[in-house]
Amino acid sequence: MTTAEFPDVYRAADDRYATMPYRRSGTSGLQLPAITLGLWHNFGDDRPLDTQRAILRRAFDRGVTHFDLANNYGPPPGAAEENVGRLLASDFRPYRDELVISSKAGWRMQDGPYGFGGSRKYLVASCDASLRRLGLDYVDIFYHHRPDPQTPVEETVAALDHLVRSGRALYVGISSYSPELTRRATVVAQDLGTPLTIHQPSYSMFNRWVEDGLLAACADEGLGVIAFSALAQGLLTGKYLDGVPEGSRLGAGKMSESFLTDETVEAVRALNTIAEARGQSLAQMAIAWVLRRPEVTSALIGASSVAQLDDSLDALDNLDFTDAELAEIDRWAVDRGINQWAGATESTGSTA
Ligand SMILES: NC(=O)c1ccc[n+]([C@@H]2O[C@H](COP(=O)([O-])OP(=O)(O)OC[C@H]3O[C@@H](n4cnc5c(N)ncnc54)[C@H](OP(=O)(O)O)[C@@H]3O)[C@@H](O)[C@H]2O)c1
Repeated sequence: MTTAEFPDVYRAADDRYATMPYRRSGTSGLQLPAITLGLWHNFGDDRPLDTQRAILRRAFDRGVTHFDLANNYGPPPGAAEENVGRLLASDFRPYRDELVISSKAGWRMQDGPYGFGGSRKYLVASCDASLRRLGLDYVDIFYHHRPDPQTPVEETVAALDHLVRSGRALYVGISSYSPELTRRATVVAQDLGTPLTIHQPSYSMFNRWVEDGLLAACADEGLGVIAFSALAQGLLTGKYLDGVPEGSRLGAGKMSESFLTDETVEAVRALNTIAEARGQSLAQMAIAWVLRRPEVTSALIGASSVAQLDDSLDALDNLDFTDAELAEIDRWAVDRGINQWAGATESTGSTA
Protein backbone atom coordinates (compact mmCIF):
# COMPACT_ATOMS: atom_id res chain seq x y z
CA MET A 1 0.00 0.00 0.00
CA THR A 2 1.34 3.43 -0.84
CA THR A 3 0.07 6.84 0.11
CA ALA A 4 -0.47 7.51 -3.62
CA GLU A 5 -3.11 4.77 -3.69
CA PHE A 6 -4.73 6.15 -0.54
CA PRO A 7 -4.36 9.92 -0.89
CA ASP A 8 -6.16 10.60 2.37
CA VAL A 9 -3.49 8.80 4.37
CA TYR A 10 -1.53 11.54 6.02
CA ARG A 11 2.14 11.78 5.37
CA ALA A 12 3.83 14.62 7.22
CA ALA A 13 5.78 17.19 5.21
CA ASP A 14 9.37 16.14 4.67
CA ASP A 15 10.58 19.66 5.47
CA ARG A 16 8.63 19.97 8.73
CA TYR A 17 11.74 20.81 10.74
CA ALA A 18 13.10 23.37 8.28
CA THR A 19 11.84 26.62 9.78
CA MET A 20 10.56 26.16 13.34
CA PRO A 21 13.03 27.10 16.10
CA TYR A 22 13.04 24.77 19.12
CA ARG A 23 13.85 26.08 22.58
CA ARG A 24 14.92 24.16 25.64
CA SER A 25 12.40 24.23 28.49
CA GLY A 26 14.32 25.68 31.40
CA THR A 27 17.21 23.45 32.41
CA SER A 28 15.48 20.27 31.21
CA GLY A 29 16.40 18.28 28.12
CA LEU A 30 12.98 18.88 26.55
CA GLN A 31 12.90 21.16 23.53
CA LEU A 32 9.63 22.75 22.50
CA PRO A 33 8.64 24.56 19.32
CA ALA A 34 8.71 28.35 19.66
CA ILE A 35 4.98 28.23 18.88
CA THR A 36 2.68 25.61 20.41
CA LEU A 37 -0.91 24.94 19.38
CA GLY A 38 -3.47 24.87 22.19
CA LEU A 39 -6.80 23.04 21.92
CA TRP A 40 -8.91 24.75 24.58
CA HIS A 41 -11.37 26.04 21.95
CA ASN A 42 -11.97 24.82 18.39
CA PHE A 43 -11.52 21.09 19.09
CA GLY A 44 -14.77 20.21 20.79
CA ASP A 45 -17.78 18.46 19.34
CA ASP A 46 -19.08 21.82 18.09
CA ARG A 47 -16.42 21.87 15.34
CA PRO A 48 -16.13 19.52 12.31
CA LEU A 49 -13.51 16.84 12.80
CA ASP A 50 -12.18 17.56 9.30
CA THR A 51 -11.38 21.16 10.28
CA GLN A 52 -9.62 19.92 13.39
CA ARG A 53 -7.69 17.40 11.31
CA ALA A 54 -6.63 20.08 8.81
CA ILE A 55 -5.39 22.38 11.57
CA LEU A 56 -3.38 19.65 13.31
CA ARG A 57 -1.87 18.38 10.06
CA ARG A 58 -0.87 21.87 9.01
CA ALA A 59 0.64 22.59 12.41
CA PHE A 60 2.76 19.45 12.39
CA ASP A 61 3.78 20.04 8.77
CA ARG A 62 5.17 23.41 9.89
CA GLY A 63 7.11 22.05 12.84
CA VAL A 64 4.56 22.49 15.63
CA THR A 65 5.40 19.33 17.52
CA HIS A 66 3.51 20.30 20.65
CA PHE A 67 -0.27 20.12 21.18
CA ASP A 68 -1.60 21.40 24.48
CA LEU A 69 -4.74 19.86 26.00
CA ALA A 70 -6.52 19.56 29.33
CA ASN A 71 -9.09 17.19 30.77
CA ASN A 72 -11.89 19.75 30.49
CA TYR A 73 -11.33 21.09 26.94
CA GLY A 74 -14.38 20.68 24.73
CA PRO A 75 -17.31 21.22 24.63
CA PRO A 76 -18.34 19.01 26.29
CA PRO A 77 -15.46 18.56 28.75
CA GLY A 78 -13.23 15.72 27.55
CA ALA A 79 -14.27 16.08 23.89
CA ALA A 80 -11.04 17.73 22.75
CA GLU A 81 -9.01 14.82 24.10
CA GLU A 82 -11.39 12.34 22.48
CA ASN A 83 -11.21 14.11 19.11
CA VAL A 84 -7.43 14.36 19.28
CA GLY A 85 -7.35 10.70 20.27
CA ARG A 86 -9.20 9.88 17.06
CA LEU A 87 -6.83 11.99 14.99
CA LEU A 88 -3.76 10.60 16.68
CA ALA A 89 -4.95 7.11 15.81
CA SER A 90 -5.95 7.89 12.22
CA ASP A 91 -3.25 10.38 11.22
CA PHE A 92 -0.42 10.73 13.69
CA ARG A 93 0.26 7.23 14.99
CA PRO A 94 3.53 6.91 13.00
CA TYR A 95 4.66 10.23 14.46
CA ARG A 96 3.99 9.63 18.16
CA ASP A 97 7.67 9.94 19.06
CA GLU A 98 7.86 13.29 17.27
CA LEU A 99 4.98 14.77 19.25
CA VAL A 100 4.70 16.38 22.65
CA ILE A 101 1.16 15.89 23.93
CA SER A 102 0.26 17.79 27.09
CA SER A 103 -2.69 17.51 29.41
CA LYS A 104 -3.76 18.96 32.74
CA ALA A 105 -6.11 18.65 35.67
CA GLY A 106 -7.10 21.22 38.22
CA TRP A 107 -10.22 23.02 37.04
CA ARG A 108 -13.67 21.47 37.48
CA MET A 109 -14.02 18.30 35.39
CA GLN A 110 -16.87 16.49 37.07
CA ASP A 111 -19.26 16.81 39.98
CA GLY A 112 -18.24 15.84 43.46
CA PRO A 113 -15.14 16.26 45.62
CA TYR A 114 -12.81 14.34 43.28
CA GLY A 115 -13.51 16.31 40.11
CA PHE A 116 -11.67 19.51 40.97
CA GLY A 117 -8.59 20.86 42.74
CA GLY A 118 -5.13 19.54 43.48
CA SER A 119 -5.59 16.32 45.43
CA ARG A 120 -3.68 13.16 44.58
CA LYS A 121 -7.09 11.47 44.25
CA TYR A 122 -8.22 13.85 41.48
CA LEU A 123 -4.93 14.20 39.60
CA VAL A 124 -4.11 10.50 39.23
CA ALA A 125 -7.64 9.49 38.20
CA SER A 126 -7.90 12.43 35.81
CA CYS A 127 -4.59 11.60 34.15
CA ASP A 128 -5.79 8.03 33.61
CA ALA A 129 -9.03 9.32 32.09
CA SER A 130 -7.09 11.66 29.77
CA LEU A 131 -4.89 8.78 28.62
CA ARG A 132 -8.00 6.71 27.84
CA ARG A 133 -9.57 9.54 25.84
CA LEU A 134 -6.33 10.22 23.97
CA GLY A 135 -5.65 6.52 23.39
CA LEU A 136 -2.10 7.01 24.66
CA ASP A 137 0.14 5.13 27.09
CA TYR A 138 1.66 8.34 28.38
CA VAL A 139 1.45 12.11 27.99
CA ASP A 140 4.63 14.06 27.48
CA ILE A 141 3.76 16.82 29.94
CA PHE A 142 1.14 16.72 32.68
CA TYR A 143 0.27 19.92 34.54
CA HIS A 144 -1.50 20.89 37.67
CA HIS A 145 -3.83 23.34 35.95
CA ARG A 146 -4.27 25.93 38.70
CA PRO A 147 -3.26 26.36 42.33
CA ASP A 148 -5.58 24.81 44.91
CA PRO A 149 -5.42 26.57 48.28
CA GLN A 150 -7.32 23.66 49.89
CA THR A 151 -4.62 21.11 49.13
CA PRO A 152 -1.04 21.23 50.46
CA VAL A 153 1.32 21.88 47.58
CA GLU A 154 3.37 18.93 48.88
CA GLU A 155 0.46 16.58 48.08
CA THR A 156 -0.08 18.01 44.62
CA VAL A 157 3.60 17.86 43.69
CA ALA A 158 3.90 14.33 45.10
CA ALA A 159 1.01 13.34 42.82
CA LEU A 160 2.91 14.80 39.83
CA ASP A 161 6.01 12.87 40.91
CA HIS A 162 3.89 9.71 41.06
CA LEU A 163 2.56 10.29 37.54
CA VAL A 164 6.12 10.39 36.24
CA ARG A 165 7.35 7.41 38.25
CA SER A 166 4.37 5.31 37.18
CA GLY A 167 5.03 6.06 33.50
CA ARG A 168 1.92 8.12 32.87
CA ALA A 169 3.83 11.35 32.15
CA LEU A 170 7.37 12.10 31.01
CA TYR A 171 7.51 15.65 32.40
CA VAL A 172 5.36 17.67 34.76
CA GLY A 173 4.52 21.30 35.22
CA ILE A 174 2.31 23.84 36.91
CA SER A 175 -0.01 26.51 35.59
CA SER A 176 -1.00 29.95 36.90
CA TYR A 177 0.98 29.49 40.14
CA SER A 178 2.22 32.71 41.79
CA PRO A 179 5.98 33.36 41.97
CA GLU A 180 6.04 32.38 45.65
CA LEU A 181 4.08 29.16 45.19
CA THR A 182 6.20 28.32 42.17
CA ARG A 183 9.34 28.51 44.28
CA ARG A 184 7.77 26.33 47.00
CA ALA A 185 6.55 23.74 44.52
CA THR A 186 9.96 23.64 42.88
CA VAL A 187 11.70 22.84 46.16
CA VAL A 188 9.23 20.04 46.92
CA ALA A 189 9.67 18.60 43.44
CA GLN A 190 13.45 18.68 43.65
CA ASP A 191 13.36 16.91 47.02
CA LEU A 192 11.21 14.18 45.51
CA GLY A 193 13.57 13.83 42.55
CA THR A 194 11.17 14.83 39.77
CA PRO A 195 11.94 18.45 38.90
CA LEU A 196 9.19 20.61 37.48
CA THR A 197 9.97 21.21 33.81
CA ILE A 198 7.65 24.04 32.88
CA HIS A 199 5.24 26.72 34.05
CA GLN A 200 2.20 27.68 31.96
CA PRO A 201 1.00 31.22 32.76
CA SER A 202 -1.11 33.66 30.75
CA TYR A 203 1.01 36.36 29.10
CA SER A 204 0.35 38.88 26.35
CA MET A 205 0.72 42.57 25.56
CA PHE A 206 -2.55 43.13 27.44
CA ASN A 207 -1.72 40.90 30.42
CA ARG A 208 1.79 41.35 31.82
CA TRP A 209 1.53 39.93 35.36
CA VAL A 210 4.33 37.41 34.79
CA GLU A 211 6.85 40.22 34.49
CA ASP A 212 6.27 40.97 38.18
CA GLY A 213 8.36 38.14 39.61
CA LEU A 214 7.15 34.98 37.88
CA LEU A 215 9.55 35.00 34.92
CA ALA A 216 12.42 35.62 37.35
CA ALA A 217 11.28 32.79 39.63
CA CYS A 218 11.08 30.38 36.69
CA ALA A 219 14.54 31.38 35.45
CA ASP A 220 16.00 31.00 38.96
CA GLU A 221 14.42 27.59 39.47
CA GLY A 222 15.20 26.24 36.00
CA LEU A 223 11.62 26.05 34.72
CA GLY A 224 10.69 26.83 31.16
CA VAL A 225 7.71 29.09 30.48
CA ILE A 226 4.96 28.49 27.94
CA ALA A 227 2.90 31.67 27.61
CA PHE A 228 -0.80 30.99 27.03
CA SER A 229 -3.31 33.25 25.27
CA ALA A 230 -0.48 35.16 23.64
CA LEU A 231 -3.11 36.75 21.36
CA ALA A 232 -5.33 37.72 24.31
CA GLN A 233 -7.95 35.29 22.97
CA GLY A 234 -7.96 37.07 19.62
CA LEU A 235 -8.07 40.68 20.87
CA LEU A 236 -4.47 41.08 19.67
CA THR A 237 -5.37 40.49 16.04
CA GLY A 238 -7.09 42.72 13.54
CA LYS A 239 -10.42 40.94 13.91
CA TYR A 240 -12.19 43.26 16.37
CA LEU A 241 -11.13 46.57 14.80
CA ASP A 242 -14.45 47.06 13.01
CA GLY A 243 -16.91 45.43 15.36
CA VAL A 244 -17.42 41.85 16.49
CA PRO A 245 -17.41 39.29 13.66
CA GLU A 246 -20.03 36.56 13.75
CA GLY A 247 -18.52 33.26 14.81
CA SER A 248 -15.55 34.87 16.53
CA ARG A 249 -14.85 33.89 20.14
CA LEU A 250 -16.44 37.12 21.35
CA GLY A 251 -19.29 36.89 18.85
CA ALA A 252 -20.02 33.33 19.98
CA GLY A 253 -20.21 34.40 23.63
CA LYS A 254 -17.09 32.43 24.61
CA MET A 255 -15.24 35.46 25.94
CA SER A 256 -16.41 38.27 28.20
CA GLU A 257 -17.79 41.28 26.30
CA SER A 258 -16.27 43.45 29.02
CA PHE A 259 -12.81 42.79 27.52
CA LEU A 260 -13.56 44.88 24.44
CA THR A 261 -13.56 48.44 25.79
CA ASP A 262 -13.09 51.57 23.69
CA GLU A 263 -9.62 52.00 25.25
CA THR A 264 -8.66 48.48 24.27
CA VAL A 265 -9.83 48.98 20.69
CA GLU A 266 -7.78 52.19 20.56
CA ALA A 267 -4.71 50.27 21.78
CA VAL A 268 -5.32 47.48 19.25
CA ARG A 269 -5.49 50.09 16.49
CA ALA A 270 -2.21 51.67 17.59
CA LEU A 271 -0.48 48.30 17.92
CA ASN A 272 -1.82 47.29 14.52
CA THR A 273 -0.14 50.35 13.00
CA ILE A 274 3.19 49.38 14.63
CA ALA A 275 2.82 45.83 13.31
CA GLU A 276 2.11 47.12 9.80
CA ALA A 277 5.27 49.23 9.90
CA ARG A 278 7.16 46.04 10.78
CA GLY A 279 5.57 44.27 7.82
CA GLN A 280 3.65 41.94 10.13
CA SER A 281 0.09 41.22 11.10
CA LEU A 282 -0.81 42.19 14.66
CA ALA A 283 -1.12 38.50 15.58
CA GLN A 284 2.42 37.92 14.36
CA MET A 285 3.77 40.87 16.33
CA ALA A 286 1.93 39.75 19.47
CA ILE A 287 3.55 36.31 19.25
CA ALA A 288 7.00 37.72 18.52
CA TRP A 289 6.57 40.05 21.49
CA VAL A 290 6.08 37.28 24.07
CA LEU A 291 8.96 35.34 22.52
CA ARG A 292 11.29 38.34 22.95
CA ARG A 293 11.74 37.32 26.59
CA PRO A 294 14.52 34.75 26.97
CA GLU A 295 12.60 33.06 29.81
CA VAL A 296 9.74 32.20 27.44
CA THR A 297 10.20 28.79 25.84
CA SER A 298 7.07 28.77 23.68
CA ALA A 299 4.11 30.97 22.75
CA LEU A 300 0.89 29.00 23.24
CA ILE A 301 -1.79 30.05 20.77
CA GLY A 302 -5.16 28.89 19.52
CA ALA A 303 -6.47 28.85 15.95
CA SER A 304 -9.96 28.28 14.59
CA SER A 305 -8.79 27.78 10.98
CA VAL A 306 -5.75 26.79 8.96
CA ALA A 307 -5.54 30.36 7.63
CA GLN A 308 -5.24 31.74 11.17
CA LEU A 309 -2.63 29.17 12.05
CA ASP A 310 -0.59 30.01 8.96
CA ASP A 311 -0.82 33.72 9.73
CA SER A 312 0.33 33.17 13.30
CA LEU A 313 3.18 30.83 12.39
CA ASP A 314 4.54 33.45 9.99
CA ALA A 315 5.47 35.40 13.13
CA LEU A 316 8.69 33.41 12.90
CA ASP A 317 9.74 35.52 9.89
CA ASN A 318 10.46 38.48 12.16
CA LEU A 319 11.06 37.91 15.86
CA ASP A 320 13.39 40.86 16.42
CA PHE A 321 12.44 44.27 17.79
CA THR A 322 14.28 47.56 17.86
CA ASP A 323 14.40 49.45 21.15
CA ALA A 324 12.26 52.15 19.54
CA GLU A 325 9.59 49.60 18.57
CA LEU A 326 9.54 48.13 22.06
CA ALA A 327 9.19 51.58 23.60
CA GLU A 328 6.30 52.43 21.29
CA ILE A 329 4.61 49.09 22.05
CA ASP A 330 5.01 49.73 25.79
CA ARG A 331 2.76 52.78 25.50
CA TRP A 332 -0.13 50.49 24.60
CA ALA A 333 0.89 47.14 26.09
CA VAL A 334 -0.59 47.56 29.53
CA ASP A 335 -2.83 45.32 31.61
CA ARG A 336 -6.38 45.70 30.33
CA GLY A 337 -8.42 43.67 32.78
CA ILE A 338 -8.48 40.55 30.65
CA ASN A 339 -6.64 38.13 32.96
CA GLN A 340 -9.60 35.93 33.85
CA TRP A 341 -7.19 33.49 35.52
CA ALA A 342 -5.91 36.04 38.05
CA GLY A 343 -8.25 34.84 40.76
CA ALA A 344 -7.43 31.17 40.17
CA THR A 345 -6.44 30.64 43.79
CA GLU A 346 -9.89 31.65 45.01
CA SER A 347 -12.20 30.52 42.23
CA THR A 348 -13.92 27.16 42.15
CA GLY A 349 -15.54 27.72 38.77
CA SER A 350 -14.87 26.02 35.49
CA THR A 351 -12.61 27.61 32.90
CA ALA A 352 -9.52 26.80 30.87
N1 LIG B 1 -3.32 26.84 31.61
C1 LIG B 1 -4.44 27.51 31.49
O1 LIG B 1 -5.13 27.78 32.47
C2 LIG B 1 -4.90 27.95 30.12
C3 LIG B 1 -5.90 28.90 29.97
C4 LIG B 1 -6.25 29.31 28.68
C5 LIG B 1 -5.60 28.78 27.57
N2 LIG B 1 -4.65 27.82 27.77
C6 LIG B 1 -3.96 27.19 26.63
O2 LIG B 1 -3.56 28.19 25.73
C7 LIG B 1 -4.09 27.91 24.43
C8 LIG B 1 -4.30 29.17 23.68
O3 LIG B 1 -5.30 29.95 24.33
P1 LIG B 1 -6.22 30.89 23.47
O4 LIG B 1 -7.02 30.08 22.53
O5 LIG B 1 -6.90 31.82 24.40
O6 LIG B 1 -5.07 31.66 22.64
P2 LIG B 1 -5.00 32.95 21.75
O7 LIG B 1 -3.97 32.59 20.72
O8 LIG B 1 -4.77 34.14 22.59
O9 LIG B 1 -6.42 33.08 21.05
C9 LIG B 1 -6.80 32.19 20.04
C10 LIG B 1 -7.97 32.75 19.26
O10 LIG B 1 -7.60 33.96 18.60
C11 LIG B 1 -8.13 33.97 17.27
N3 LIG B 1 -6.98 33.92 16.35
C12 LIG B 1 -5.91 33.10 16.44
N4 LIG B 1 -5.02 33.37 15.48
C13 LIG B 1 -5.53 34.38 14.77
C14 LIG B 1 -5.07 35.11 13.66
N5 LIG B 1 -3.88 34.84 13.12
N6 LIG B 1 -5.86 36.11 13.17
C15 LIG B 1 -7.04 36.39 13.74
N7 LIG B 1 -7.54 35.73 14.80
C16 LIG B 1 -6.78 34.73 15.31
C17 LIG B 1 -9.04 32.76 17.18
O11 LIG B 1 -10.30 33.16 17.70
P3 LIG B 1 -11.69 33.03 16.90
O12 LIG B 1 -12.31 31.82 17.51
O13 LIG B 1 -12.38 34.30 17.27
O14 LIG B 1 -11.41 32.87 15.44
C18 LIG B 1 -8.41 31.81 18.15
O15 LIG B 1 -9.31 30.83 18.61
C19 LIG B 1 -5.36 27.11 24.74
O16 LIG B 1 -5.80 26.37 23.63
C20 LIG B 1 -4.88 26.24 25.86
O17 LIG B 1 -4.12 25.18 25.33
C21 LIG B 1 -4.28 27.41 29.01
